[in-house]
Amino acid sequence: MRSNASFRTRKAVARASSAVVRKFREFGTPLNVIESSSADARYQEVVELTAAHLNPGLSRLMAFAGFGVETRGEGCTVYDHEGRPFLDCLGGYGTFALGHRHPRIVAAVRAQLEDIALSAKAFFNEPAARLAADLAARTEGALPYTFFSNSGAEAVEAALKFARIATGRPGFISTFGGYHGKTMGALSVTGRDKYRKPFDPLVGPVQFVPYNDLDAVRHVMNPDVAAVIVEPIQGEGGIVIPDDAYLAGLREICDRNGSLLIFDEVQTGIGRTGHLFAHERAGVRPDLMTLAKALGGGVMPIGATLGTADVFSRAFGENPLAHTSTFGGNALACAAARETLRVVDDEQLLARSAERGAQMLARFAAVAAKYPELVADVRGRGLMIGLEFALDEVGELVVSQLLKRGVCVAYALNNPRVLRFEPPLVITEVEVDTVANALDESIAEVDELIAELR
Ligand code: F0G
Repeated sequence: MRSNASFRTRKAVARASSAVVRKFREFGTPLNVIESSSADARYQEVVELTAAHLNPGLSRLMAFAGFGVETRGEGCTVYDHEGRPFLDCLGGYGTFALGHRHPRIVAAVRAQLEDIALSAKAFFNEPAARLAADLAARTEGALPYTFFSNSGAEAVEAALKFARIATGRPGFISTFGGYHGKTMGALSVTGRDKYRKPFDPLVGPVQFVPYNDLDAVRHVMNPDVAAVIVEPIQGEGGIVIPDDAYLAGLREICDRNGSLLIFDEVQTGIGRTGHLFAHERAGVRPDLMTLAKALGGGVMPIGATLGTADVFSRAFGENPLAHTSTFGGNALACAAARETLRVVDDEQLLARSAERGAQMLARFAAVAAKYPELVADVRGRGLMIGLEFALDEVGELVVSQLLKRGVCVAYALNNPRVLRFEPPLVITEVEVDTVANALDESIAEVDELIAELR
């Protein structure tokens, strides 16, 4: 399903884009759960404080797009300052696999809080040791060791450092469109110039190759390469799904060259694609794997870098303090993560991710077929679904229409034509239908608007 929008459509879309986004706030139907005057005042104040003390540009951008102030989250729903509910299909870019404030995660963190919250660092850390063992079991022993941190970027930093010390080599191969975070090291392997260039010189040497292209990897592979780092499915890049043989092919190329293979599962991990880890489907194991986002159950931030015994013995063999983190492996985050893994089992979230994902994909494909000039492609695995438009601006327009209908999504930063749908894995069949209907209405309204302006 590929299409090319006509020139007239392109011009109409460009005109429609700013008009609709500006009008968005007038369209809303507040539930009046909170007195609207006090809600408005709260909104204004937060927008102004954000502009004055966090980030003026971002404040303008978000106000312009029509985003409110988030005040509460529960299950698949986020409520704004007016008490308006939104079905969360953005899900913190994959953080809310279990939804917002899953009662079992909240209870696990509360219970832990009664004992010890953060580590004194002088003692053995029981929650971290137990979580690492749980994770090792989930990789069937292939990755028996874990280093804990607090975010995806930190997990990637650790993976890059471990790859260097384990191989004694400096270089990395990464992919265009790949996203691995914005700290110096993680940014160095993030495949978008827009984010990298202003911070040059970064960590090197890093060679970028097109995603899903094994020949390109073979071509640049050399004895200085410590590791190849890839996402099993590119998230920020626009939900790019590689060929079935891609990950196995990378494994083979790395083995032949004595390089390590790093799978960044920060976004794809913990059931998002219908597997606990997306790479399981390919039947290959990495030397290092990064996790974050959903691992904390949507309640606590946590990052994890899992590795083989060989990698960890080289990384920490000479100096057990070669890499450390004050907050990494804290008891609260580890309690949340241990309970997250249990909830994934008990609530059969892998099967639910696959089933609800198939439902959503089928419904979206039917919607897309109605608008061949606007929608270029629908693709996904499990509940990681991308809807690609033929033009950049259409994505923005549809986002604001979906917001108006109580569905929260965003486009992929590395590819604004693609809307990313990553709802909680606990989303119900009825909620998936609600999202698909809202999408249908939203595209219809954008289509009408473009027709009027053509
Ligand atoms: N790796 C992947 C695959 C990611 O998707 C992200 C973040 C990171 C690493 C960095 O994690 O933000 O916790 O430091 N992705 C978000 C996104 C920002 O938009 O997809 P972080």
